[in-house]
Amino acid sequence: MAVQERPVALAGPDRRAQLSLFARNFFKHPRMLGSIIPSSPFLVRRLLERVDWGRARVIVEYGPGVGTITREILNRLHPNATLVVIETNDDFVDFLNRSLYDPRLKVIAGSAEDIQAQLNQLGLPPADYVLAGLPFSTMPAECRERILAASREALGSGGAMLIYQFSPKVSSDLRQTFTRVESDFEPINVPPARLYYCHK
Ligand SMILES: C[S@@+](CC[C@H](N)C(=O)[O-])C[C@H]1O[C@@H](n2cnc3c(N)ncnc32)[C@H](O)[C@@H]1O
Repeated sequence: MAVQERPVALAGPDRRAQLSLFARNFFKHPRMLGSIIPSSPFLVRRLLERVDWGRARVIVEYGPGVGTITREILNRLHPNATLVVIETNDDFVDFLNRSLYDPRLKVIAGSAEDIQAQLNQLGLPPADYVLAGLPFSTMPAECRERILAASREALGSGGAMLIYQFSPKVSSDLRQTFTRVESDFEPINVPPARLYYCHK
């Protein structure tokens, strides 16, 4: 009987290893992470409900950390689609490269600001979705503005940027950058999170 080859979304290190690596990095870079544990399944589900999985062919995730959202994206992603994850923390990049095997996944060591250069280098068209849980409220304003503007430019028509945050500070920048912004809230997360769905 022919066995259908399927990408392996998770192999190797288990959940305990993910939590431990995330917590250690929180103590090293608290402002870059914002929480001592990764996003809850409730937050991940609420964020990903907004994705049209039948249509999406290019998704970019900023700050995947230990891959909590990444794994759930891969579980839902169309077989012909590509997921690009961009992460500044080398420990996390290394962990993702060691623990996630999926031909649809491209792990990039770098900053979200360079999204367009990364898409060009991979020969990909504009993104359908950009997903971000970056610490926008603690980064310098110029950096936040550059990332938001670059994300808007990298989205194709009908594209959306889906964001979760632990502070409302970014909301005015979002409303200045995007045509339409909807907001939402997920209480079952540490800490409770605001969500913003930003349309190009
Ligand atoms: C709140 S954690 C989110 C982790 C994971 N997405 C989750 O939901 O559990 C923020 C992540 O963004 C990363 N990060 C911070 N600034 C970044 C930037 N400019 N570009 C890409 N990643 C960044 C941090 O290293 C960290 O992994």
